[in-house]
Amino acid sequence: MVQQNQSGVVVFDHPLIAHKLATIRSKDAGHRMFRAALSQIAGLMVYEVTRSLPTETVDIQTPMTTTKCSIIKGTITIVPVLRAGLGMIDGILEVMPEARVGHLGLARDEQTLEPVAYLNKLPVDIDAGPVILVDPMLATGGSASAAISMLRQAGANDIRMICLVAAPEGIERLRKDHPEVTIYAAALDDRLDESGYIVPGLGDAGDRMYGTIQG
Ligand code: PRP
Ligand code: URA
Repeated sequence: MVQQNQSGVVVFDHPLIAHKLATIRSKDAGHRMFRAALSQIAGLMVYEVTRSLPTETVDIQTPMTTTKCSIIKGTITIVPVLRAGLGMIDGILEVMPEARVGHLGLARDEQTLEPVAYLNKLPVDIDAGPVILVDPMLATGGSASAAISMLRQAGANDIRMICLVAAPEGIERLRKDHPEVTIYAAALDDRLDESGYIVPGLGDAGDRMYGTIQG
């Protein structure tokens, strides 16, 4: 199901994920289809992303006897990077409804390509368990790197990142800035264009998801 391309990067190799990703790469996919597929892909990816979560053994009383069971240790926090990361939340919460959701708002300045932070709403005890950062696009890696720094600043010590499409530039940036964070991507694309967009990519994820494309 997955392919470990290089240390700390897991690229999915799964027909269903590839199929759904193909539908939203198409410029003809409208925002309704885009939102639905993005959420579904995130739900499919989370199964693998949570494979390495810490567990603990507890005693459970079944109707028959007491037995030892394994449960996830700590409280999981999902953190979408606004706006586009919000599109992955519902699919993940369907599988992990008990997870908490923190929010980070970051917008990339389209001239400098630097992220500008405008919202930081995280649980005060974010270190109570693993944190899963979600953003469909890992382009220059500036937004993801800033988001991880904000999570660290808030006290998070066990962080994973899920993205849909990653560019080699973004992976390299995260490997340099935050080598301890494993990146899970549905696809590893070719490159960035001169405006910092992923090629072949899928365009501006936030605009496509919310139907706010200009012109
Ligand atoms: C997109 C995307 C990432 C960022 C990736 O958000 O969702 O957060 O760009 O680019 P980077 O790796 O070069 O930083 P954008 O800033 O367009 O905001 P939006 O989701 O509100 O449209
Ligand atoms: N942000 C997006 O939404 N798409 C890209 O291709 C790059 C950054």
